[in-house]
Amino acid sequence: MQFTTVSACMISLAVASANAATLPKRQSDALIAQFRVYSAAGCFDRNEGFFTIDQSQANNCTSFAPYDADTPFVSIELQDVLTGGENCALYLYSDTGCTANSTVAALDVCQDAAVIQPGASLPTWNSYYYSCPTSS
Ligand SMILES: *[C@@H]1O[C@H](CO)[C@@H](O)[C@H](O)[C@H]1NC(C)=O
Ligand SMILES: *[C@@H]1O[C@H](CO)[C@@H](O)[C@H](O)[C@H]1NC(C)=O
Repeated sequence: MQFTTVSACMISLAVASANAATLPKRQSDALIAQFRVYSAAGCFDRNEGFFTIDQSQANNCTSFAPYDADTPFVSIELQDVLTGGENCALYLYSDTGCTANSTVAALDVCQDAAVIQPGASLPTWNSYYYSCPTSS
């Protein structure tokens, strides 16, 4: 998984790069999906960048906590499903541990968060799980 910000702010870019650099990356990994995150409802305003999902990151919970401290993710749109991702499903959650308010994000459909976390002013998404068939 890699998060790429589109923010013009150099500090944000440096932070995103540092985060990406700490993630393990396998040589054989194929990119299988990509989704975009926004810090406003509707998947239009306040585009914060996109996440790429590699084969090795399927069937694993990823918290948004390292990425959304200043810009909570309020809406998310699955934009690309590539070879290897066809039979998979992107699940979004209101908590950071992939348990609460599980919602499937269909391709090219905006998913607005619906659950407001304690202390927050807007509903937010806080983790995702890309579920793929494991028997092959
Ligand atoms: C999920 O991620 C953790 C931490 O990066 C890793 O140890 C584990 O092997 C991963 N699980 C799967 C199914 O890829
Ligand atoms: C979200 O999940 C929590 C905990 O599972 C539950 O109590 C709450 O009713 C859910 N909210 C919605 C809008 O589904």
